[in-house]
Amino acid sequence: MHDFEKLGSFYLGRAYDLAGRRLLDALILYDANDLTTHGLCIGMTGSGKTGLCLDLLEEAAIDGVPAIAIDPKGDLGNLLLTFPDLRAEDFRPWIDEEQAARKGLTPDAYAAETAEAWRKGLADWGQDGARIARLRQAAEAVVYTPGSTAGLPISVLRSFDAPPAQIAEDTEAVRDRVQGAVSGLLALLDIEADPVASREHILLSTIIERAWAESRNLDLPTLIGEVQQPPFSRIGVMDLDSVYPEKDRFELAIRLNQLLASPSFAGWMEGEPLDVSRLLYTSEGRPRIAVLSIAHLSDPERMFFVTLLLNEVIGWMRRQPGTPSLRALLYMDEVFGFFPPTAMPPSKRPMLTLLKQARAYGLGVVLATQNPVDLDYKALANMGTWFIGRLQTERDQARVLDGLEGAAAATGQTFDRARLESTLASLGSRVFLMHNVHESEPVVFHSRWALSYLRGPLTREQIKRLMADRKPAAAPPAPPPDSAPQAPALTPEPLPERPLVAAEVNQYFLPLARPPQGTARLQYRPAIIGAAQLHYVRAGAGLDEWRDVALLADVPDATGGVAWESATVLAGGAWGADPPAAPAEYEPAPAGLGAGKQAGAWQRDLTQFLCAEHALRLWQCGAPKQTSQPGESEAEFRARLAQLARERRDLAVAKLRSKYGTKLAAIQERIVAAETRLERARAEQGYRGVETTLSVGATLVGALFGRKVASRRNITEAASAVRRVARTARGRDEVALAEAALNTAREQLAAAEQELAVELQSVEAAVDPAQFELTELSIPPRKSDLALRALGLAWTPWAVEADGSAQPLFRA
Ligand SMILES: Nc1ncnc2c1ncn2[C@@H]1O[C@H](COP(=O)(O)OP(=O)(O)O)[C@@H](O)[C@H]1O
Ligand SMILES: [Mg+2]
Repeated sequence: MHDFEKLGSFYLGRAYDLAGRRLLDALILYDANDLTTHGLCIGMTGSGKTGLCLDLLEEAAIDGVPAIAIDPKGDLGNLLLTFPDLRAEDFRPWIDEEQAARKGLTPDAYAAETAEAWRKGLADWGQDGARIARLRQAAEAVVYTPGSTAGLPISVLRSFDAPPAQIAEDTEAVRDRVQGAVSGLLALLDIEADPVASREHILLSTIIERAWAESRNLDLPTLIGEVQQPPFSRIGVMDLDSVYPEKDRFELAIRLNQLLASPSFAGWMEGEPLDVSRLLYTSEGRPRIAVLSIAHLSDPERMFFVTLLLNEVIGWMRRQPGTPSLRALLYMDEVFGFFPPTAMPPSKRPMLTLLKQARAYGLGVVLATQNPVDLDYKALANMGTWFIGRLQTERDQARVLDGLEGAAAATGQTFDRARLESTLASLGSRVFLMHNVHESEPVVFHSRWALSYLRGPLTREQIKRLMADRKPAAAPPAPPPDSAPQAPALTPEPLPERPLVAAEVNQYFLPLARPPQGTARLQYRPAIIGAAQLHYVRAGAGLDEWRDVALLADVPDATGGVAWESATVLAGGAWGADPPAAPAEYEPAPAGLGAGKQAGAWQRDLTQFLCAEHALRLWQCGAPKQTSQPGESEAEFRARLAQLARERRDLAVAKLRSKYGTKLAAIQERIVAAETRLERARAEQGYRGVETTLSVGATLVGALFGRKVASRRNITEAASAVRRVARTARGRDEVALAEAALNTAREQLAAAEQELAVELQSVEAAVDPAQFELTELSIPPRKSDLALRALGLAWTPWAVEADGSAQPLFRA
C-alpha cells in the first residue's frame, strides 16, 4: 500500500512543467476532505476531464467513499472495467472491434495490445494490478439504467411517497421536495412550468402537499384522480374552479394518463425504488459506485430523472449527522443544460441547494463540463477546487477565468490573471490547472493513468452484459394501467346496506386510496384492525422510541380469535370512524363479532402478539461502542461506523500534521540554508550546482502534507537571507563546513521521517465497513406502556369487477 492511501489523500497525478513540457517527480496528492467544498472540472472534449474525474472516483472508492455518478454520455460504465490480472482475455469483450479493424489488427491482437498498454500506463504511474484489485475489493461498481432494463432498472415512483418523518417536520425541506417532484413530472410532460406562476405546478404541488401532510403516499393513478377531483375546493384564497376550471384539469389528467399508459413509462415503474442509501451502500454496508446511465433517455426524461435524483439526494443528506470528513460523492459528467447561467430548469434548484448545504454533511459534489459558457458561475463561486483543462477558444478561457476570479474573490485569494491566462493557453491533453482554495497556490499537473479501462461509451448491449449477473430474478410485469381517467363509477342502484353491527363493537373505515376504474364497483369488505402505539426503551442504548403500528387481519369465524400472525401491516396506517359519504356496497359481516367477552380476548391476544413479535431490532458494535438507531438499516449503521472511523483517522492525520509541521519546516529551512551556503562556497571554488532536496513530493512527508506545506514561502525567504550572509564566506573550509551542515540537516530530516513513519502505523487505514463486528439486539415494546389506538371491525374498500375479481383500493 502506498503511504498516501492511509492518509485520505487522493493520488491524482504528477506535477507538470508546462515550459519544458515534461512530468515532474512531485506526486499530486489531494486531500479528500477538500472535496467537501466541491469540485468543478472544465475542459474541451478530449481534454481528459472524464479520465481525471474517474481517477477521483477510484481514489475515493479505495478510501471507502461511495459515489453516485450521473452519466449523460455513457463513459462512466468504464468504472466496471477493472481487470487486476490485466490479461488480454479480460479486455477482449470490451474493445472496439472497429478500431481494431482500422488498425489492421485481429480483435485478439488488439485486445492484447490494449492490455499491454494498460499495464504499461499503470506502471508509468507507479500503479499495478494489485491496486486495481484493491479498488475492486473496496467498492462495488454498478450501472443503473432508469427507464430501461439494460442495466439495473430503477423505479422513481416512490418519489411521490410521503417523506420520512425526519424530513416531514422540516417545512422548507418538504416544500423543496414537493417542488422537485412536480417540476420533474412536468418536465417529463414537456410542460415548461414556473413553480410560482403556472397553475399546473400550483395544482399538483397543492395535491401532493396535502397528501403528504396526511402522511399519505401518492401514486400516479391517485394523482390523476385528484387532479380531476381535488380533495379541496380552494387554492390559497381563491376558488379552485376559477383558478383551474374542471374542464382544463381534465386535460391535465388526460396528459398524465397518456404518460402513465405509454410503454416507455412502464420502464420507470420497474426495478428497485430510487433510494440514495441503497445506491451508496450494499446491504452489508459496503461502499458502491453507482453509475446512473441516462444516455438512452430523451432530454425531458433526463431532466425528470436528474431532478428527482437530486431531490432524493437532498432528502438523504439531511438525514445524515454532520461530519467534517468526506462521506460520499455526487459526480455529474457533462452537466451541460442542467446548471445554466440564467434559465432555471427544474434540476437547477436542487443543485443549488446541494452546493450550499452539502458540505456540512460531508457530501462532495463534482461537476464536469466541456461547455464553459453554460455554467452559472455566480452559483459556483463557492466551489473549492477547479480543475481546468485545455479549452478550445480564447473566449472559453476568458469565461472560465472570469468564473475563477469570482471564486477567488469570494475566498479572498489573490488572483494573478495574466499568469493564469498564459497557463490556460498552453495546457495539453490530460494536463490541468488545479486551483484549490485550501492550498496556497495553483498547480499544473498531469492526470495519472486510470485503473479502469477507459474504452469510451458502452453500448446498451455491453451494459446488459456487464450487469447480467447482478440482476434480481425478473419480476412479473406490472399490470397495464387503465386506459382513461374516469370519475368513480358509483352506480346509483339499490345496494346492500351497511350490515348492522352490535353498537359496542368499534367500526372503522379505511380511506379510499384511489377510485375504482372502468366498470368496477366500489365495495366495502370487513376485516379486523388492531392498532397500537408501542414504546421501546433501553437506557443503556439511549433508546426511547414511540412507534405506531396498525395491523389488518382476516375476519375470524364467530367464536375464534384473530389470526394476528397472518395479519398485514397497514403501511399508511390511516383509518377513520365515519362511513364514506358516497353510497357503496357492503359485504356482510357477522353481527356479534367482537362483542362481549370476545372483545377482551382480542385485546389480550393483540397485546401479547405485539409484545412478542414487534420487538425492535437494533445492532450493537463493541468498537467503536455504538448502537444503531431505530429505522437505521444494517448498511446505514455500518456506513455510519465507517464514517466515524474516517473522522478519527482524519483527526489523527491532522494532529500529525500540526505536530510535525513546524519541526519539518524548521529542518527544511536548515537544509535549504545549508544547500545555499554550500552552493555559494562551491561557486567560489569554481564548482557548480548542488543537488537540492527541497522537493519532498514523493516522500512520506509529502504524502502527509500534500501541497499544504505552508512554510514553503518561508523556506525561500530563509534561503535568500542565507544567500546574503554567505556572500562573505570564503575558502575551502567553508565548503567542508557547509557540507557538514547539510549532512546534519539531511540526517535530521531522515530521522524525523522515520519517527513519522512509526507514528503513522498507529493511524488506522481507511476502514472497511464489513470489518465491524455487530451483535443483534432485540427490544420488545414495554407492555405497560402499550396504548391501543384501534381494535375492531374495519371496512376496507375494494374494486369489484363483474366477474367477481377484486382489487384493494386502500393502501396495504
Ligand atoms: N486518466 C487517464 N488514464 C488513461 N487514459 C486517459 C486518462 N484520461 C484520459 N485518457 C485518454 O484520453 C481520452 C480522452 O479523455 P476523456 O477523459 O474521455 O476526455 P473528456 O472527458 O475531456 O472528453 C480517453 O478516451 C482516454 O483514452
Ligand atoms: Mg468526457
